[in-house]
Amino acid sequence: VPVQTVVLLVVQWLHVIFAIFWFGSALYSRAVIWPALRRLGPERESEVIGAMRSGPARRITIVVSSGTVILGIVRGVAAGVLGELTTLYGLTFLVAAAVGVTMALWTIVGFGPAWLARLFVPGFFLMFTLMILMRFGY
Ligand code: HEM
Repeated sequence: VPVQTVVLLVVQWLHVIFAIFWFGSALYSRAVIWPALRRLGPERESEVIGAMRSGPARRITIVVSSGTVILGIVRGVAAGVLGELTTLYGLTFLVAAAVGVTMALWTIVGFGPAWLARLFVPGFFLMFTLMILMRFGY
């Protein structure tokens, strides 16, 4: 097996597992954790949310979000996407890189106004769609 294939395999393995963690956490938080916390009352809710956004929890979020994006870019570059940036695949890659960097920064720095935060989950579905498109060569 060529070394380049092994490198790609490892990078893609890591990229996808980081992405699952990040995307899954975002969905699970919204579908399960936040509604459950809301039922506990505002005081305990803000206590738990505070704990989830500081210390080790915050470090994990930063590593997983920036790791997903960095590994995605490395995955593309290792497979030679820089030589085909003007193809449809290259364009999809560039859009994914731009949206991905934005979403990682967004996760790390904070969400801003509420209407903007509503774009976060749709952003994941867009990213996921772009990933599948690239898988099929688009
Ligand atoms: C926002 C979160 C992201 C998620 C949920 C995600 C998810 C995935 C998944 C599931 C795959 C595997 C697709 C398959 O093999 O069928 C994949 C592949 C890939 N991802 Fe991501 N990804 C994300 C961000 C990024 C970013 C920011 C980049 C950089 C541009 C990127 C670049 C790639 C590349 C190049 C592949 C391989 C595509 C191919 O088969 O040619 N990803 N991603």
